[in-house]
Amino acid sequence: MPRASLSAWVAAGLMLMGANAAGPKQVVAHRGASAYAPEHTLEAYRLALEQGADYVEQDLALTRDGVLVCIHDLTLERTTNVEEVFPDRFTDTRTGSTTVRRWLVNDFTLAEIKRLDAGAWFDATFTGARVPTFQEAIDLVRGKAGLYPELKDPGFYRDRGLSPEAALADALERNGLLRGSNTSVIVQTFDPETIKALASRLPDLPRVLLVSQAYASHLDSPGKLRAIRRFATGLGPHKAILEANPDIVKWAHDAGLTVTPYTFRAATPADRGRAQDEMSKFLYEYGVDALFTDNPDLFPRR
Ligand code: G3P
Ligand code: CA
Repeated sequence: MPRASLSAWVAAGLMLMGANAAGPKQVVAHRGASAYAPEHTLEAYRLALEQGADYVEQDLALTRDGVLVCIHDLTLERTTNVEEVFPDRFTDTRTGSTTVRRWLVNDFTLAEIKRLDAGAWFDATFTGARVPTFQEAIDLVRGKAGLYPELKDPGFYRDRGLSPEAALADALERNGLLRGSNTSVIVQTFDPETIKALASRLPDLPRVLLVSQAYASHLDSPGKLRAIRRFATGLGPHKAILEANPDIVKWAHDAGLTVTPYTFRAATPADRGRAQDEMSKFLYEYGVDALFTDNPDLFPRR
């Protein structure tokens, strides 16, 4: 192949992979600038933009009336005051001999969820913050940074006869974000079946397979990474997996996968130097392409 054609082919491949392999290192604001503002609120997303995030992450859930909203958990009680506003609307779930009350996002309409306070749990100064819809996140972020939506708990929704993959594809298409947009989109999930479904619905978008520590063995040979490349364009491993075996970064790159580990954070103001040093090590010694952090302001660009 002539050199010029080969370069064009490599460039096109890198664009599909998420634009950052062999390019500038990139920072993904994890749940927004969630060290400083309540996760998955417009306040946290706005701060992430101010702090220079290349991408702002949205974890997605489906409401009872089929609207994608930005929230990490399958349930509302950790990050909103749902227990006060809707004390009787819980579902009892059993774990062993213990019964736990849960307020599932999918049992509430968008109008009901919009009545909830999503900021006071983090700090009283954020009282009044709301759970944003994915559409509100798109409207805020587009043109200023990339979007990085994650489909959370897809199996739960499938069991209810719902398709979060279709909801995500529809939302991106409706907003003109599938191709030719000035706003990059990278989709992510822990569920390989969902990544495969997204590969067929959204073939033009980069797709990152997240890998938790429990599944570290799925990354323990170059051959396993080549197998992942058949359906994903990038890897999002827990950072401890790479700490235990930094060779995975080279194996992934050789297979044509980008590498974006999660999650880097400073636990306290006194921890900021350590967190920044840790990010530097992963970016410039281990060679990862990007990373998820709660502290986009600490991202060590060179
Ligand atoms: O999506 C990357 C990282 O956010 C995965 O962990 O649990 O914070 O969604 P989690
Ligand atoms: Ca996430």
